Amino acid sequence: MNSNSEMIIQAQNITKRFGGMVAVNNVTFGLKKNEVAGLIGANGAGKTTFFNILTGNYFPEEGKVYYKGEDITDLTPESRVDLGIMRTFQLASTFDNLKVIDNMRLAFYRANNRASLRNIFFTRIDRIVSEKIDECLETFGLTKMADRLTGNLSLGEKRILEIAMSIVTDPEVLLLDEPFAGLSDGEINECLDVLRQQVGKKTILIVEHKISKIENLVQTVGVMVEGVMIAAGETKATLNSERVRQEYWKTAQDDCY
Ligand SMILES: Nc1ncnc2c1ncn2[C@@H]1O[C@H](COP(=O)(O)OP(=O)(O)O)[C@@H](O)[C@H]1O
Ligand SMILES: [Mg+2]
Repeated sequence: MNSNSEMIIQAQNITKRFGGMVAVNNVTFGLKKNEVAGLIGANGAGKTTFFNILTGNYFPEEGKVYYKGEDITDLTPESRVDLGIMRTFQLASTFDNLKVIDNMRLAFYRANNRASLRNIFFTRIDRIVSEKIDECLETFGLTKMADRLTGNLSLGEKRILEIAMSIVTDPEVLLLDEPFAGLSDGEINECLDVLRQQVGKKTILIVEHKISKIENLVQTVGVMVEGVMIAAGETKATLNSERVRQEYWKTAQDDCY
């Protein structure tokens, strides 16, 4: 085995090309158990491409991805979800025509490979599941919205529901690609509060274009510039490091803070 055993999820020497263009260039990056990390970089830096390699939506030309020391480079996204690696999507992936609580039920059963719609809506939901869903709604401040139609929620409420839908399945690793896109400052703060409650309980990676949004949440940060991970480590130290000053702040300051 070739992986760093301290890491719960780790990418080693990942290279991903699109045609002749190198989108991710020899990137090594990982998260320890219960670490909350950010991945930042200007538009086009390769963040989403790298994210998709962790989720299994893209396969790298070079390099390996490990989960708890096992090589998962060739596993599909579905198999990774089964292992406990959950993602949310950049665009809201809730069902508008379902109630909030039914979206939660759907998320739970989908993740547990018991996706019989009959089970979800018409027959008994076992009590333990039901309690788990209620508890999760409570944690995320969604209890009072449980019976509302999801389509009537604000974008901020929907984003919180999406995070709740990924947490209810009890993943070990949660991957979020620009979870604050399109949200107001108030909504972002609500999402941050929700994520803060998970610190110490889950391993979380948040891809974000603007570091100012997440710098008070993430313990560590990786910085990408043109496909290269130029620095990674404890947030403050990394953001203040010489290479990040030279290659990231100099070119990207207005846009990225
Ligand atoms: N499916 C694709 N086909 C071709 N080029 C792509 C594709 N996805 C991303 N790219 C290119 O790869 C680079 C990195 O993109 P991306 O990973 O989306 O960056 P970021 O998420 O940091 O904005 C960009 O130059 C982008 O145009
Ligand atoms: Mg992106």
